[in-house]
Amino acid sequence: MIRVDNPRDEANVAQVYEANQEQVFQYWNDLDAVERRSLLDQIASIDFPEFRRLVESKRADSPAGETPGTRLAPAAMIPLPRTAEEREARDRAHAAGMEALNAGEVGVFLVAGGQGTRLGFEGPKGCFPLLPISGATLFQHFAEKIRALRDRTGRPLPWFIMTSQGNDATTREFFRANGHFGLPAAEIHFQPQAMLPVVDPEHGRILMTSPSSLMLSPNGHGGAVRVMQEQRAHFERYGTRHLFYHQVDNPLVAMADPVFLGHHILNDSGFSSKAVAKTDPAEKVGLFCVDGGTTRVVEYSEISDEDANLRDPDGGLTHRAGNIAVHVIATDFVAPDDSAEPFVMPYHIARKAVRHLRDGELVGGSEPNSVRYESFIFDLLPRSRNPVVLEADRALEFAPVKNAEGSDSPSTSRAAMAALWAEWLDRGGVTVPRDDEKRPLHPIEISPLVADDAETLAAHLAETDIDASGMIHLR
Ligand code: UTP
Repeated sequence: MIRVDNPRDEANVAQVYEANQEQVFQYWNDLDAVERRSLLDQIASIDFPEFRRLVESKRADSPAGETPGTRLAPAAMIPLPRTAEEREARDRAHAAGMEALNAGEVGVFLVAGGQGTRLGFEGPKGCFPLLPISGATLFQHFAEKIRALRDRTGRPLPWFIMTSQGNDATTREFFRANGHFGLPAAEIHFQPQAMLPVVDPEHGRILMTSPSSLMLSPNGHGGAVRVMQEQRAHFERYGTRHLFYHQVDNPLVAMADPVFLGHHILNDSGFSSKAVAKTDPAEKVGLFCVDGGTTRVVEYSEISDEDANLRDPDGGLTHRAGNIAVHVIATDFVAPDDSAEPFVMPYHIARKAVRHLRDGELVGGSEPNSVRYESFIFDLLPRSRNPVVLEADRALEFAPVKNAEGSDSPSTSRAAMAALWAEWLDRGGVTVPRDDEKRPLHPIEISPLVADDAETLAAHLAETDIDASGMIHLR
């Protein structure tokens, strides 16, 4: 065993040997004092009992495929209102949601700990300059949505931001350098999620990226559960009862949507979700289903072709409630008091191609050569009381930035924003010139501080003259 100076390090080093991971010390003799300290700190950050459980079980905890002997049923979904009755239900929900916002019972929880490898942007994804004219970042855009709501209710709307070890410092510095985008700094709470080692697929050995660096990766957006539990004191201080959860990649998110909050509250739900209608059976989106009596998200890779293609008499897909990772989570469900058993989240396995150190050389190409463990927030769903699934209009609420090009990229996301804003302008009486494919001819950008919905924009337009013959930038 390597020699270290203090009992805390000694105990951590012992855990490494007990887990048969002593290869992480193979370069120990070549490391200087700073590098040794860094390696020991990385080791100290790992939850070894959890990591060993995962490596030793050698499998994902998640159900693989549909439960044998049962038929998947679609989860009940509150549809977009089409009838008078449905519109009344929406209005009741809106009133209940506004009441919670006005009472200061709502917090926003943003998961921003991901690595954003597909986008390939240098830096946290929230720092990506997405907005089409100002080049404002995703973080700024969300901050403006929160400011607009805060201004409307006059109540604090605390913002909890989950980062990870790799982007925590940069994220905090970005907010600081930008004056927290006009929000009170004290109402923004950053917390990094836990990291887990990435291992080789054959022996489950921790991979290294340099002689003093383990390959660690954030433990999935399900890591938010532990972060929420650790934020409980803040929830108590603010009186936060409902967390509006969203991802860093979707600029169209309807921030703390009162209708969504209201449905959640009126149903006394623990975990509520927004869904968009899936129209293409091949679309890679998780689906809200009832499996053996329990509501859960079934991933696209888990559903049989037969179920994926099943259609209702109206011609629509039977399994159509696609998960867009927008949730409302009750704090008394996810972060109850100390007497409650804490949730243990199941883990899923992802295999990726990585460059890692072997015999002193960096190796690895395009073939998956590593295993990482991730938990998913939607695995809370089967444990929730009265889960609500609410249908959302994709064109109004969902335009994620995942890839550098092609589908779900900055250009598709910007096009969705332009289409939405042009429609709001039309509805407010400003006719936006369009090309043959109905795309706005000139760039448009509307800051949430001016309007974050069609009605607010119409009210603004009633008092302002807009020249729609060129670029429209409202801020
Ligand atoms: P994605 O599944 O798109 O993953 O995350 P990613 O890491 O951002 O991107 P790729 O796969 O490397 O390209 C969906 C949301 O969940 C957050 C992300 O920041 C994003 O908001 N997330 C993901 C975390 O907060 N932590 C994680 O460990 C994983």
